[in-house]
Amino acid sequence: MRLFVATHNAHKVREMTQLLPGVEILPDDPADVEENAPDFGGNALIKVRAIAARHPGEWCMADDSGLEVAALGGAPGVRSARYAGEPSNTPANNALLLKNLEGVTDRRANFTCAVALVDPAGRERVVEGRCFGRIAESPSGVAGFGYDPLFVPDGYDRSFAELPADGKNAISHRGRALAEVKRILGESK
Ligand code: IMP
Repeated sequence: MRLFVATHNAHKVREMTQLLPGVEILPDDPADVEENAPDFGGNALIKVRAIAARHPGEWCMADDSGLEVAALGGAPGVRSARYAGEPSNTPANNALLLKNLEGVTDRRANFTCAVALVDPAGRERVVEGRCFGRIAESPSGVAGFGYDPLFVPDGYDRSFAELPADGKNAISHRGRALAEVKRILGESK
């Protein structure tokens, strides 16, 4: 089975390949679509529709994800990639997050991942996964990407960036959403 995926993020492609064994992941970046929906599911649909138009009769998938911090009213949310401005800059995003949480004791946060699927008949579906945790006082670890060095999942004392890939995948927002995708793809065989 093959699956076209709307991303150019090599880390995500690796996570998807690990989480969907036996599925051939074919990245196809939708490039200049405007992700202007108010929520992750809406943005995932915008992206998957853009690639589904190029691959009729195929399974297509897009994900949209981000970090939501309780004390910041859910920010950075859908603006996670560009929290510190354009173009997307991970060190600047992480620095701004720490700055905005200076002196804040409520560090609760969660990652959310929405995955939109289009099946070969053109039917659309959106599934979501979440991972709850807290924002550390300082970064640690070098694995992963984005806010991983700052996010400590509940039940752990290490950040996502300190966990081995399969450890992160087992509990992450993307891991949870893709487990549901795996079930849906399995049902269609
Ligand atoms: P995207 O729009 O789904 O590509 O992701 C938006 C942004 O959310 C990324 O650029 C990261 O800053 C953040 N993000 C999403 N998933 C993760 C993750 O698993 N770890 C760390 N940051 C993430």
